[in-house]
Amino acid sequence: MQKDPEIEERIKSLGKAVGLMVKVVVGLFLLVLFLLSYIAYTGKGTWVFEKEPEVVPTQTVEENTEAVKDTFWHAPDIASLDGNPAKEQILYGKDLIANTSKYFGPKGLVKAKATNGLNCQNCHLDAGTRVFGNNYGSVFATYPKYRPRSGTIENIYKRVTDCFERSLNGVAPDSGSKEMEAIVAYINWLGKDVKKGEKAAGSGLKDLAYLDRAADPDIGKVGYEKHCVSCHTATGQGMWNADSSGFTFPPLWGIHSYNSGAGLYRLASLAKYIKYNMPQGVTHDNPKLTDEEAWDIAAFVNSQTRPSKDIRKDWPKINEKPVDHPFGPFHDGFSEEQHKYGPFKPIVKKRKEMEGAKKN
Ligand code: HEC
Ligand code: HEC
Repeated sequence: MQKDPEIEERIKSLGKAVGLMVKVVVGLFLLVLFLLSYIAYTGKGTWVFEKEPEVVPTQTVEENTEAVKDTFWHAPDIASLDGNPAKEQILYGKDLIANTSKYFGPKGLVKAKATNGLNCQNCHLDAGTRVFGNNYGSVFATYPKYRPRSGTIENIYKRVTDCFERSLNGVAPDSGSKEMEAIVAYINWLGKDVKKGEKAAGSGLKDLAYLDRAADPDIGKVGYEKHCVSCHTATGQGMWNADSSGFTFPPLWGIHSYNSGAGLYRLASLAKYIKYNMPQGVTHDNPKLTDEEAWDIAAFVNSQTRPSKDIRKDWPKINEKPVDHPFGPFHDGFSEEQHKYGPFKPIVKKRKEMEGAKKN
């Protein structure tokens, strides 16, 4: 076949052009590669696309969780009491909180049968120091304060007396007595580092969302049998210690339990306490019960019989009654039943509307 010189010429120049283009492309490629590697080199003997060397933690895992918890209030170190002139008094106060029954229970050393045999620590865990264990962290910082239950400004003596008369269903030692002064000294010392007027994170009880329905004592009974009965017993009467001077497992209802004027007789307080502290051994960051279980079991426990307290003078301003205060009269039109077991959301909503209407 005859070759066309013109076509051959074209092919040649096309070849040259392609060759040039390849050179340019390769050149550019090398240039880009050089630039990239220049940028990528960190100057520290590593490349940016290399994995950062693992930073070996100097803390163990446990220490790390401690660090997280440290955003919460913690009690001052007992060892720091050395040299404090009030050391003995404060330690006595701590012992009275931890072993209240030893001093005021059925065989109480200071006054026998002054209380039902519970220890303050049964509800204020670890002598009132556990995170969200109903601790005393913010007491010193927030009292005296107005408390709507009495409608008065209360100091710490009054608040402690309240728990003696309601949670311990008994009588409190007088202000000025060695015991009352020691209890207050201990509570004051615990909270001394919290800024006046402020509530420390992790103090008191941890909030729990309301259910959309009423809490159900019948469902709660099943939960109680599953999660609580092994310690608090089927009769709810708890278990006395060997010489009956106090409880190994405190009662949840019956004659030795908190009375109807106590904080735990309010469903929300009991549900919060249970959810983040029971069964014994759980902590607020590792609870065992679901919210529903906590509410239903609380409903079951508070539907059982317990000593009653004359509380007619409580909540002198009825519009200041908490939504879960179970005794009427109420200004919001809801029944005692609903104030005891919920659902609480409609009560909250109605009260907000009433407040709004007042302002307009
Ligand atoms: C049966 C459970 C129970 C027992 C026992 C008990 N308390 Fe309480 N206490 C409560 C509850 C519930 C509250 C209210 C918690 C809340 O509403 O945040 C409370 C509140 C308090 C407060 C106020 C806390 C605050 O931050 O405002 C003090 C102080 C207190 N108790 C002291 C005592 C002392 C002292 C004893 C022992 C003599 C005692 N309590 C025994 C359940 C109990
Ligand atoms: C393993 C034993 C154990 C189990 C299970 C247990 N508790 Fe307790 N409970 C205790 C002990 C012990 C205390 C007192 C804590 C302290 O003094 O440190 C306590 C305290 C309480 C208190 C406050 C004191 C009182 O008597 O009023 C309530 C309320 C309570 N428990 C409810 C429950 C509920 C509800 C359950 C089931 C969800 C439960 N507990 C499961 C051992 C247990």
